[in-house]
Amino acid sequence: MYVELDLVERPFTERGSRLLVLLEEDGLRVARAEYEAPLAVELSRLVVRDAGGRALPVVSADPVAVRFEGGAELLFADPSTLVLAGQGGSASWRLPGGTARSVELTGCHVLVGPEGEWAADRVRAAAGRRWAEWFALMPEVPEELAERTRMAWWTLAVNLLPIGGREGLVPSKYGYLGVWNWDALFHAVALRHASPALARDQILLLLDHQLPDGQLPDVVHDFGVLAETTDLPRSDLARLGEHVGRANGTGMPAGPVPVTKPPLTAWAVWKVHRADPDREFLAEVYPKLVRAHEWWFTASDPDGDGLPEYLHPYSSGLDDSPVWDYGPRAEPPDLNSYLIHQADRLADIAEAIGLAGEAARWRERASAHLESMLARRWDGSGFRTLSDGAPVRVRTALDLMPLFTGRLPGAVAAQLERTLRSPSYWGRYPVPTVAFDDPAFDPDAMWRGPVWLNVNYLLAEGLERSGFAGTAAELRRRTLAMVRDAGGLYEYWNPLTGARAPRATSGFGWSAALFVDLAAGGSVRP
Ligand code: GLC
Repeated sequence: MYVELDLVERPFTERGSRLLVLLEEDGLRVARAEYEAPLAVELSRLVVRDAGGRALPVVSADPVAVRFEGGAELLFADPSTLVLAGQGGSASWRLPGGTARSVELTGCHVLVGPEGEWAADRVRAAAGRRWAEWFALMPEVPEELAERTRMAWWTLAVNLLPIGGREGLVPSKYGYLGVWNWDALFHAVALRHASPALARDQILLLLDHQLPDGQLPDVVHDFGVLAETTDLPRSDLARLGEHVGRANGTGMPAGPVPVTKPPLTAWAVWKVHRADPDREFLAEVYPKLVRAHEWWFTASDPDGDGLPEYLHPYSSGLDDSPVWDYGPRAEPPDLNSYLIHQADRLADIAEAIGLAGEAARWRERASAHLESMLARRWDGSGFRTLSDGAPVRVRTALDLMPLFTGRLPGAVAAQLERTLRSPSYWGRYPVPTVAFDDPAFDPDAMWRGPVWLNVNYLLAEGLERSGFAGTAAELRRRTLAMVRDAGGLYEYWNPLTGARAPRATSGFGWSAALFVDLAAGGSVRP
């Protein structure tokens, strides 16, 4: 059984397939997921009937099959072929234009996909083997987390699709059909437990599409990459226009700007390497990581002060955070914290491939970068966020991210940990992405309050690196409990209730990935 599919939040689908089977009031619907488009209907109102014409209900659905009363089954013969197998009775459905179709059940019938002869027994046995192999790779987890982990593990498999020349993991077949930059890194963190090669592929897929100037794209999709504002879908531009700059009337920039995601690539590379040491991989990616790192200083630091900025909300990964209400260009403290950490990981990688001199230079870069951030952004009680040089008056979880460097002076780290443990951030379901007592806090609106697993994961790791193992353990424990109890691998959660926020998507890749990694007690040390 592995995991029960409700055919609403968890549709019947397959690794490598864009087809989703969903349950609706008037029967089953088969839809196809596409990049930045609503689900396309392949067929609808699929109903199976017995010989007397009575409609037969679905009695169970799991990764292998959807089963109807009386024994008929839906199975994937291959990622693009969905078959209906059964003997006796009939099935009927509608095609998108409304044309009605029906068939007497006499074996294996292709519903979607190229015509072909399939034997039901073989198709079922092959699906059974595929899933048994995948679940055999699932890391061991404590019993009370096993059910949710199986759901997460299934999510990771079905979100794998051929994209950009490799097998990439998409964030969700509901609305996010591409490989997103930092999502791929979080996905790699989970896949390293089962298939380090697949984990490396997530990172390589991103690096394969590096731009000539070193920039990494925001998204790799079926039609190319999203790497600057002119590549953005129109609907995104409209959404951004609603809030960006509204606090001070700036609005979006007129000309094209690059769009990427936070610099965590070397962080992920090193985690995968620690799980499955591979010097060849390190040597292959190192020059690309170096160019990607330098890009922030050459192309994303408009005032040239050595503290890079995000030039677009999407580059931060926190699309609608209230930070952007102050304008489209900003420097919340996470960016330079990630870069400082990345310099340390580049040092580790350089050392591992025998470049001792470069390793020493990266360490110096990391400490000089931190010194400069402390000297210019620490105001004695917190790190400041600037937007085009002016202070941003909103308190977000990003303010705590300097903990991620693991290099802060003791008093500074202690102050950040105290802030995290204060009522502004520490409720039953930490960590709200905007402080509970900030006027911009909204428990249901994406990055304006809800809990996201990646923020919790990175903060827990930072706490541990900064000497707060107890707080890190408590944060992880509460995060796991929240996800276990809320019912699914959602995109984000309401920090007051611990429930799915209403607009959050389900079957979300990095929630599944980071849940698996946390549940497996994955090491958080670099
Ligand atoms: C949303 C998130 C972003 C993420 C993307 C794909 O846009 O804000 O951080 O990378 O979805 O999951």
